[in-house]
Amino acid sequence: MVNINGFYLCIVGFAAMVVDINGDLEEPKCLSRFDYDYKMLQKLTNLENTVETLKESLRQSENEMKDLSRKIKASGSVYIRWGRSECQDEAEIIYKGFTAGKKYSDKAGGSDTICLPEDPSWSNFTTGTDGGRGYVYGTEIDISEPSGVFENRVNEQDIPCAACHTKTSSVVMIPGRSHCYTGWHLEYSGYLMTAFHGHHGPHNHVCVDHHPESLHRGEANDNQHILYVAVSKCGSLPCPPYGENKELACVVCSL
Ligand SMILES: *[C@@H]1O[C@H](CO)[C@@H](O)[C@H](O)[C@H]1NC(C)=O
Repeated sequence: MVNINGFYLCIVGFAAMVVDINGDLEEPKCLSRFDYDYKMLQKLTNLENTVETLKESLRQSENEMKDLSRKIKASGSVYIRWGRSECQDEAEIIYKGFTAGKKYSDKAGGSDTICLPEDPSWSNFTTGTDGGRGYVYGTEIDISEPSGVFENRVNEQDIPCAACHTKTSSVVMIPGRSHCYTGWHLEYSGYLMTAFHGHHGPHNHVCVDHHPESLHRGEANDNQHILYVAVSKCGSLPCPPYGENKELACVVCSL
């Protein structure tokens, strides 16, 4: 036995220094209580090392799991369901909100229609009134009633929207169709809407659900961002299959 810093160490035989046939290190031969303590200490150290190794591999597995679940979640696709505050079937809602865009009489501003979340969060803001800004307004539908197309009365109603996530990897909005093509899954169907032909500025087309919901207290005639039903016009567009002043249906399909 050798005494190093008050510890009694076991004399390790030459045989113990080399790995034996079984691949194990031979146990030191202990002759006293201190030898026994030392052996225990060594076992404890080994145990600690094993725990550390296990912890590390657990961490690795956890990271791999996270990565995998992120990849699974990241697959699929996203679309906005205009006119509704919920998604249907397999589609999961990301957020619901208010349909918005430029004011019908503004010369410019965003040409698109956007879905503003109902629970905005702000970075810096000033609420300053300097005029050098673009304006974003809420959306209402203008249509004469009975519309002959929508299921419910929607004139002057402000409409919600929902961002929907489908597990399917492709989504397409098809204007001029009331049904998806074979093999595709219908996310929702509706009517193609855009700006009034006599109003200023650029505007996109959106597919508004055939049964739009109205926002709570959204019936005021605000005339800000306004959506009108889009109809086909004959000429460059062949009629048939299209027709003069026919309301264009639309579908959002996924695969
Ligand atoms: C907010 O404004 C402060 C002061 O100008 C600036 O330091 C900070 O980076 C801004 N934060 C963001 C998110 O823009």
